[in-house]
Amino acid sequence: MHSTLAFTGACLSAALVVASPLEYSSNNSSNGTAIPNFSLPPQNLTSYGNNSLFTQWRTKARFRPSSNHIGDPTAFWQDDEGVFHVSGLYSYLRGPNISITSSIGGALTSDFLSFVDVHNYTNASLFTNGIEIGPGNKNDPLAVFDGSVIPKGYKGYPTLIYTGVSYLPISWSKPYIKGSEAQVLAYTSDNGATWIKPGIDPVIPGPPKGFNVTGFRDPWVFQAPQFAQLLNDTPETWYLSVSSGIRQVGPRLLLYRQNSSDFTSWEFLGPSVSTPVNTTFSTGNFSGNDGSNYETSNTLFLDEDGENLENGVNFVTMGAESGRETHSFHYSLWKMGKFVRSSVNESVILEDHATGVLDWGLGYACTTMPDHKTKRRLAFCWSNDDFNSTISEQVGYRVGSGGVYSIPRELYYKEIQGVVADDLAAENGYWSVATGHLDTTLAKDGIEMARVSGNDTVTLATLGCKPAREILAFRKHANHTWAESDFKVDVKSIMSNCSGVEITEKEGVTHAFIPFKQSPQSRRWELQATVDIPKSSLRNEEYEGFAAGFTILHSSASAPANYSVDDAAMLYRPSNETFMVTRDVALGADNVNTDPEMGKLRLWNVSSTDASGKQTYSIQPLSIRAFMDGSFFEVYVNDVLTISTHIYYWYKDSTRMGFYLQFPDTLQNSTLDTGVKFSNVSVWEGVPNVFPKRPTNPAELIDNGVGFVQPPNNPNVPLTYDGVGAPPLPPAENLPYGIDLSTVE
Ligand SMILES: *[C@@H]1O[C@H](CO)[C@@H](O)[C@H](O)[C@H]1NC(C)=O
Ligand SMILES: *[C@@H]1O[C@H](CO)[C@@H](O)[C@H](O)[C@H]1NC(C)=O
Ligand SMILES: *[C@@H]1O[C@H](CO)[C@@H](O)[C@H](O)[C@H]1NC(C)=O
Ligand SMILES: *[C@@H]1O[C@H](CO)[C@@H](O)[C@H](O)[C@H]1NC(C)=O
Ligand SMILES: *[C@@H]1O[C@H](CO)[C@@H](O)[C@H](O)[C@H]1NC(C)=O
Ligand SMILES: *[C@@H]1O[C@H](CO)[C@@H](O)[C@H](O)[C@H]1NC(C)=O
Ligand SMILES: *[C@@H]1O[C@H](CO)[C@@H](O)[C@H](O)[C@H]1NC(C)=O
Ligand SMILES: *[C@@H]1O[C@H](CO)[C@@H](O)[C@H](O)[C@H]1NC(C)=O
Ligand SMILES: *[C@@H]1O[C@H](CO)[C@@H](O)[C@H](O)[C@H]1NC(C)=O
Ligand SMILES: *[C@@H]1O[C@H](CO)[C@@H](O)[C@H](O)[C@H]1NC(C)=O
Ligand SMILES: *[C@@H]1O[C@H](CO)[C@@H](O)[C@H](O)[C@H]1NC(C)=O
Ligand SMILES: *[C@@H]1O[C@H](CO)[C@@H](O)[C@H](O)[C@H]1NC(C)=O
Repeated sequence: MHSTLAFTGACLSAALVVASPLEYSSNNSSNGTAIPNFSLPPQNLTSYGNNSLFTQWRTKARFRPSSNHIGDPTAFWQDDEGVFHVSGLYSYLRGPNISITSSIGGALTSDFLSFVDVHNYTNASLFTNGIEIGPGNKNDPLAVFDGSVIPKGYKGYPTLIYTGVSYLPISWSKPYIKGSEAQVLAYTSDNGATWIKPGIDPVIPGPPKGFNVTGFRDPWVFQAPQFAQLLNDTPETWYLSVSSGIRQVGPRLLLYRQNSSDFTSWEFLGPSVSTPVNTTFSTGNFSGNDGSNYETSNTLFLDEDGENLENGVNFVTMGAESGRETHSFHYSLWKMGKFVRSSVNESVILEDHATGVLDWGLGYACTTMPDHKTKRRLAFCWSNDDFNSTISEQVGYRVGSGGVYSIPRELYYKEIQGVVADDLAAENGYWSVATGHLDTTLAKDGIEMARVSGNDTVTLATLGCKPAREILAFRKHANHTWAESDFKVDVKSIMSNCSGVEITEKEGVTHAFIPFKQSPQSRRWELQATVDIPKSSLRNEEYEGFAAGFTILHSSASAPANYSVDDAAMLYRPSNETFMVTRDVALGADNVNTDPEMGKLRLWNVSSTDASGKQTYSIQPLSIRAFMDGSFFEVYVNDVLTISTHIYYWYKDSTRMGFYLQFPDTLQNSTLDTGVKFSNVSVWEGVPNVFPKRPTNPAELIDNGVGFVQPPNNPNVPLTYDGVGAPPLPPAENLPYGIDLSTVE
């Protein structure tokens, strides 16, 4: 709240000027048309009606179902026509008659700019729920969990191998119910619109003998000529990994080999990734924590352009559970290194050269698919909503739709050349050292090798992650585009001339917001920028509290004094090498998660040779692309750090953007270099609607979340699917304000 902030005299912020309160109103109807305008935020979001917040924070340019809930991205594939099948775990948010706990539903796209739901029920109504396969049969009585697709599998058809669930709950934190997860096969004869369950037993009925697992799910099918060579298999052999963990021992990725040409039998080889509980690869927290159970793991072979099965560097991505106190105990991790023949069993095992975090924010369960046309690997990460956990389920009904996917991300093998071969580069972290083309080693060993051979620099190797190139076309949908002039600023210049600067002080730290010449009027935009940070500030305690970046949304300067503000920023804090997204929104911590998101980012000291042949050294700048879409925010920095999060702004007018600096009082009169240079700053406001065929009336979208296409030869047991044989839903007004999901499971 403003009232808790003191303003320094000379830089009195315009925000304190009392304007007459605007006439603000809120609408509390239950059909998603009601958007609070300028009214003060409610004490408690649960006081709104079901679905009344449906449009409030809704994304426009992201994959999501029309309503209800999306979870893990899964069962992706690219068909013969090159069309991408993007899908995820879909479940119903509301009841009564709620019944689908978890199914798989999706949409088709060729360019990620426009998706078409797999089913839209044109004849019956305007339903757009996209469900391709649901639970309710012998192998999946309770739920369908993640799977992956062999494009030419069972009987030559595209084949989905997925986890069929027979008992719940399933959690790393609970005793494992034997038989709860089995790997099950289905195939499609209509290009993925419906998956047929052929009435055979699970293809992997349970964990290997003697494995006391924490989980056993998310089968990932892949071809791996490099594995085939190590294991004396034919290069076409398919492998399958199951994400798992051994209780009190540690997470495991369990490797299987195709044991029959129709993919109905798989042979267990051994773990391909094995770590002790709570492994922290980096002591500086650059690598997250492996926790005790893996989920949604993908095995990848990547080069500088994307996929390279034959020669690519070996990568594994995984969701890691239980090693983090925030973010639902989840870390989204990746590892790079080299698969070698195991000395103790029939498997290959990853020699870990680096471990990193794929998304430091809410982004989780990241799953990839190939683009065979361009040899790329594309990943989507899922972000759940992020309301205060005590009311999040209740607020879910107010919003009427939960979960969203990131824009597609290109994953690739990334090299950083000319990095000074010092102790910082030798640490364990999200980097390894390149020792040859597509060949890496542990950073410590690589630096030692460089020193021995008299090299003072090395090439670091890591996972590159950047917005898919298609996303550049978002910019064509902008209705307002501009560039800000390059801007150099330091603490002294702000303190001596603060015109145009809005300054607040909190606990000995000054926050200086320098509004852009222009700002967007909506929360749908891309911001691109480069920021240079003073070299002396890195890892320097004297700079504690010093940070620089951008304010991404801020309330109007003419807001009344009794008006709580929305204020969010992205900034880099060099003293502890942390990139942060702050989200001090007016709704406050009782309603939404306002904790900052944080990811560790090391800016390297890089050598280059100038025109005269002289060697010069400089610190890498921050190269930023940030995307806002409704409340959903994603930022990509230097292709190595990604953060997704939700910023639940309240006011329509909290759209101001600007340069942002934080500094402690101790730096005000100091001679330390605080100069920050902002350059190449551009903003594109406006994004495409990626589901152009869906109805635009929220009431129709909300109503659409029921129904299921019954695939042929798939007599799902009756009454499993809401809307099929079940009585219709009562009118929205008659729905209870909140439903305890546990009573309707
Ligand atoms: C509330 O929303 C309903 C449905 O869109 C609309 O008919 C009504 O006029 C709105 N009421 C107010 C006060 O805006
Ligand atoms: C809300 O939706 C229900 C069912 O579609 C409809 O009967 C009702 O009139 C709608 N209410 C408003 C305020 O639009
Ligand atoms: C908000 O309301 C819900 C019930 O709808 C209640 O459980 C919760 O404690 C309330 N929160 C606050 C901060 O009052
Ligand atoms: C919305 O309507 C419900 C039911 O009439 C009421 O209890 C609640 O206080 C209203 N909430 C707001 C924010 O006006
Ligand atoms: C498996 O783990 C459970 C829970 O920790 C324990 O009670 C049981 O003895 C373990 N079984 C084996 C075979 O280790
Ligand atoms: C792993 O870390 C979690 C979270 O910090 C902690 O609760 C748990 O006791 C740790 N387990 C082991 C075996 O160290
Ligand atoms: C040392 O530098 C040479 C020449 O640039 C390069 O070929 C070699 O790979 C480097 N060795 C190491 C260990 O970095
Ligand atoms: C651009 O479109 C957004 C809606 O997406 C709108 O809020 C904004 O006012 C528009 N900006 C301009 C400059 O027209
Ligand atoms: C970095 O420092 C800031 C300010 O002291 C602190 O809030 C944050 O937790 C630190 N981040 C990490 C990752 O240690
Ligand atoms: C969530 O809201 C409750 C009040 O309902 C509050 O006590 C708690 O501190 C909030 N959680 C966070 C993380 O702020
Ligand atoms: C900085 O120096 C000025 C002028 O000497 C003084 O007024 C001010 O209090 C000093 N600020 C701090 C934080 O030490
Ligand atoms: C439904 O599908 C048909 C046929 O593909 C298409 O013409 C129509 O636009 C779609 N409608 C919606 C609402 O997606």
